[in-house]
Amino acid sequence: MHSRRAILAGSASLALILSACAQSSGGEGLSKGGTVGVAMPTRTSERWLTDGKGIIDDLHAKGYKTKLVYGEDNPEKQASQIASLIKQGVDALIIAAIDNKSLNDVLQQAADADVPVISYDRLILGTKNVDYYVSFDNEQVGRLQARYIIEKLGLEDGKGPFNIELFAGSSDDNNTRYFYEGSMHLLQPYLDSKQLVVQSGQTQLDQVTTLRWDGPTAQRRMTSILTQSYSGQKVDAVLSPYDGISLGILSALKSDGYGSGGKPLPIVTGQDAELASVQSIIKDQQSQTVYKDLRELANVASTMADDILNDRRPVLNDRFSYNNGVKVVPAHLLQPETVDKSNYEEILVTGGYYTAAELK
Ligand code: GAL
Repeated sequence: MHSRRAILAGSASLALILSACAQSSGGEGLSKGGTVGVAMPTRTSERWLTDGKGIIDDLHAKGYKTKLVYGEDNPEKQASQIASLIKQGVDALIIAAIDNKSLNDVLQQAADADVPVISYDRLILGTKNVDYYVSFDNEQVGRLQARYIIEKLGLEDGKGPFNIELFAGSSDDNNTRYFYEGSMHLLQPYLDSKQLVVQSGQTQLDQVTTLRWDGPTAQRRMTSILTQSYSGQKVDAVLSPYDGISLGILSALKSDGYGSGGKPLPIVTGQDAELASVQSIIKDQQSQTVYKDLRELANVASTMADDILNDRRPVLNDRFSYNNGVKVVPAHLLQPETVDKSNYEEILVTGGYYTAAELK
């Protein structure tokens, strides 16, 4: 076994014995298992608030203390936050990176301090100092978005041509490529057969990314596409990789008269089942989202941290798919689900993710 894991496992068991007689330390949770540092990318998207809270609640329930930081979508700030967590002596790190390549130096510091690292949702690239990856099947996310468009437009029945515009996520997020490739794998045959036409001509990944997944950036790009490529034509579908981007796209479309006066909104996909997007789906605006149960993801990450710190083998289900450029990072991947107006009640309300009142 790796030495730092052995040492950590030893100190974790000692902490366990010592804490058997200890009292609960209140808001920070029990201290028997040590401290886990959790670095999340931003507070501006609801999902990362849910992730952060889910992880720390689960870790507290397992007897750990936690230190949770948010990097405000600033890669340098996130690197210095992680450096500070290491200096404060955290025993393990769970990190959702802002920029997949900006953490190499600080993760060397983590390795030097024998702190294991779990890459959370987004794979950290270009370093050997990332131990495990927990995420969803990211290509499947893209496939679900594409499949929705294919079904709703009736492309398999030969219908078309339809106009589609393509959006992807942040260029510095490893997931972006997986989502886009998953989608394009299914959409490309219909672009080839001209059942789908991209009037803007923007189909290459580097033409369609949206830095930091920013909704207003997507809104500006959609507005400019509508102005430049759609006089006298209408958009029938927009591939959007994430709910915040979908809402930006919908704002641009509505400002252009879509959604009223005989000009229906196009199909607009999404991801994360964020509250505002589910409400938008209920109002027949956004069409679809990909639901990823963040309670499960948080649970897998905190269980993995607990396993590593107690010298148990974490549960993995993928040892091949995620090469970070230096090594294949062993992963635990969860399955995403497509959600639209027809199934949101069953999946999100009956599933306890939202209450019916929250969605009003
Ligand atoms: C990705 C993540 C998506 C979405 C996006 C924007 O890395 O996998 O679910 O949250 O970031 O935050």
